[in-house]
Amino acid sequence: MKLAVLKETAKDETRVAATPESIKKFKTLGLDVTVQTGAGNAARISDADYIAAGASIAPDAKAALEGADIVLKVRGVSAEEAAALKKGAVVAALLAPHTEKDSIARLAATGAVAFAMEFLPRISRAQAMDVLSSQANLAGYKAVIDAAATFGRAMPMMMTAAGTIAPARVLVMGVGVAGLQAIATAKRLGAIVSATDVRPATKEQVESLGGTFVAVMDEEFKNAQTAAGYAKPMSAEYQAKQAALIAETIKKQDIVITTALIPGRKAPVMVTEAMIQTMKPGSVIVDLAAEQGGNTPLTKANEVIEVHGVTIMGYTNLPGRLAVDASSLYARNLFNFVSLLVDKKTGALAIDWNDEIVKGAVVAKDGAPVERS
Ligand code: NAI
Repeated sequence: MKLAVLKETAKDETRVAATPESIKKFKTLGLDVTVQTGAGNAARISDADYIAAGASIAPDAKAALEGADIVLKVRGVSAEEAAALKKGAVVAALLAPHTEKDSIARLAATGAVAFAMEFLPRISRAQAMDVLSSQANLAGYKAVIDAAATFGRAMPMMMTAAGTIAPARVLVMGVGVAGLQAIATAKRLGAIVSATDVRPATKEQVESLGGTFVAVMDEEFKNAQTAAGYAKPMSAEYQAKQAALIAETIKKQDIVITTALIPGRKAPVMVTEAMIQTMKPGSVIVDLAAEQGGNTPLTKANEVIEVHGVTIMGYTNLPGRLAVDASSLYARNLFNFVSLLVDKKTGALAIDWNDEIVKGAVVAKDGAPVERS
C-alpha cells in the first residue's frame, strides 16, 4: 500500500504532515511512502532526510498521488490535488470542516474517504492523535514569546543596583489547551498572570498554574460547558456582566493573550475598542482567535498592527511559526491515527466504521460529504 505526503499549497503554511521519524514507523506497518519534493523544506527536513528514512521522492503532487491509498497533508486538498487522487483514497488533514464545505464536497466527489483531524472526539484513546491539542499547546507558548519579544519591558521582576523593575501583568482570555500553555509560559517568564474563561472547570486549572481566576461566576457560568467539554455561546446579559469585569481588569494589564473560541462559530468579541483605549501605551494583545474573526474587533488576520498605542498581533498560524516542533507533533498525531486504519498483520486498509474515533473524524465517504446533525 502506498502512502503519499504532499507539499503544502496554502500560503504561509510551513508545517509538513510527516517527518523521517513518522515515515520509519509507517514503514514498519508495511507501507511504501512517497514524499513530494520540498515538502519538508520550511520545517527543516530535506528530501535527503526523507530518503534516509526510507521514503521515495516524487517531483510533483500528481506523481506523489499516483496510486496512493493514503494521503497526508496539514491543510486542505486543492482542486488540482483532488483531481489526481486515486478513487477511494484515504485523506487525513486539517480540512477545516466548519468552513471548507465546498472543498470537502469536491474531495467527496472523487470517492475519497476524508478525515478532518479537527473532528476527532476528545476521548482519552484519541489523545495521542489530538492535533488540535498538540498545535494549540505550541500556539499558546508562541503567543507569549511573541508578546514578550515585542513588549518594550521585561517580564519578570528584577531587583538591580539601579532599582527594581516591576513584573509584567499578563491576562489570558480563554483557558483551553492554548490558554493553559500561555499561562504556564508567562509564569515561567516571571509575569503576574490572571486568566478568564466561561467554563467553571478552568478556575482550578488556572489556580494550579499559579494564576488568578477572573470571571463572573453566576448560574449561567456553572452550566457553560457542553458534554464534549467545549464552551457554549453565552447570553448577552452574561457577556455584558463579564465585559464590565474585564474592562476593570484589562486597564492594569501589559499583555493580553486571547484564545476564546467556540467550534464552528465566529469567535466572541471579548476585548472592545473602548477597553483597548484604556490600556497603557506599549501594551500587547496576541489574538489567537484571529482566523475566526478575532476576540477584539480591531484584530486583522495575519497582521501585526498598532492601534491606540497597543500592538495587536493577529497571526493565524502560530504553530507554523514553530514549524519544526509543530510538524513533529502533527506527524506523530497522524501516524497514531493512520495506524488505527491499517491492519497491522497485512498492512492493508481495515477501517472499523463502528470505531468512535473513525465515526467522529470522517467527513467524506461513498462519494458524498458525511452530514452531521
Ligand atoms: P477552544 O479552542 O474551543 O476554546 C478556547 C477556550 O476559550 C475554551 O477554554 C473556551 O471555554 C473559552 N471560551 C469560549 N468562549 C469564551 C468566552 N465568551 N469567554 C471566555 N472564554 C471563552 O478550547 P480547546 O483548547 O479546544 O479545549 C476545549 C475543551 O476540550 C477543554 O475542556 C479541554 O480541556 C478539552 N480537551 C480534552 C481533551 C481530551 O482528550 N479529553 C484533549 C484536549 C482538550
